[in-house]
Amino acid sequence: MNNLTEIRDTAYGGYGVGTLPDGRVIFIPHTVTGDKVRYRITEDKAKLVYGACEEVVEPSELRGEIYCPHIGECGGCVLGHIKYEEQLEIKKGFVKSAFDRNRLEYPEMEVTGSYYNEFRNRATFRIRDKKIGFYKFKSNEFIPIEHCPVIKSSIVEKAKELAADVEERAYLYVTENEKGESLARTDVELSSKYSFDGLKTGDKPIGRKHLGYDTRYGTFYVGFNSFLQGNRHISHMLQDFVFENAEGRLGLELYSGSGYLTLPMARKCEKIEAIESYAPAVRLAERTKLKNVKWHIALSESIASMGKRKVDLIVADPPRTGMEKEVCKYINESGASKLIMISCDPNTLARDISRFSDNYKIEKVHICDMFPGSYHMETLTVLNKVK
Ligand SMILES: C[S@@+](CC[C@H](N)C(=O)[O-])C[C@H]1O[C@@H](n2cnc3c(N)ncnc32)[C@H](O)[C@@H]1O
Repeated sequence: MNNLTEIRDTAYGGYGVGTLPDGRVIFIPHTVTGDKVRYRITEDKAKLVYGACEEVVEPSELRGEIYCPHIGECGGCVLGHIKYEEQLEIKKGFVKSAFDRNRLEYPEMEVTGSYYNEFRNRATFRIRDKKIGFYKFKSNEFIPIEHCPVIKSSIVEKAKELAADVEERAYLYVTENEKGESLARTDVELSSKYSFDGLKTGDKPIGRKHLGYDTRYGTFYVGFNSFLQGNRHISHMLQDFVFENAEGRLGLELYSGSGYLTLPMARKCEKIEAIESYAPAVRLAERTKLKNVKWHIALSESIASMGKRKVDLIVADPPRTGMEKEVCKYINESGASKLIMISCDPNTLARDISRFSDNYKIEKVHICDMFPGSYHMETLTVLNKVK
């Protein structure tokens, strides 16, 4: 069989889209539109066929600079072989097609890029045979690494130092602030915190339990397990977006984490009610000492049962799975004049907006490429209540 195809698109997840001889679609990672490739089928389900690229017979003009020897295998930079400007176009395409599928109307999208300049302030490594590394794309096969161009190099060096003492298979999560203070978490039992300021080893914390991150709007605190926006160069754009667009007397923030977006919001609203389900994140949020914020440890989906309030603004930054149906229903009936939605998955974002699109129209869309090389991005939207 002549296993050749021309790639005609990039699908969400980072797959090149090709065509099988019987006309069905095949998804082939590490390829790009315009490539002519020889492939092998790796998974054949009735509707979904996945393949692996065996040879690029004719490379596309959209292929770019290879900035890391692991491009083409690593699960992190699945778009890393593609010119950076094209990656931005692809990501814009992901957002547009999600919005179009959900029949949403939207204005011209603004896109801001970053670069492969050690932008990551946090990373989760695998440890095998005393080395750090990552898994291959969609596999548990380990790739040892010495350096990673997208992660702050001091994070990589500190991780290597600890891993050199670990015989077992383990994971290691590391985060570091701009002062060089760092926290790490691993599933192996260790008796030292190595070069970290705090280490959670198994269930036992050694040293510091949280770090402060200075931002334009005040200091924000993170712990071993709390959420942290991942790009040390452009994460502040999320805060700036909230600052520029927030207004109103009472603001409601859903999925507030440790208060990263509450900091700018608190400068624009008289009062804020912030809701987050992970109790340690709320304890860290309280350290911001924001006087006009009431923090709630609660599920966002319990908002409707938390009493009636006349909300002017709702800010929501849910996890990848998006917002629960009850939350969308609450927003739809809230009467808030403005919504600011921030999301790391355009598909769940579009689905959620479609649940309140009779009452709210999209006024702004800004895509921030927080993760160059990967297929991930943040989409920031402002919606206004239909009069
Ligand atoms: C993408 S993070 C955003 C955090 C914060 N806005 C920030 O920028 O750091 C999503 C947050 O939602 C929280 N979360 C997840 N499911 C939740 C739920 N059902 N109700 C409330 N919070 C939830 C997570 O613990 C996490 O802190």
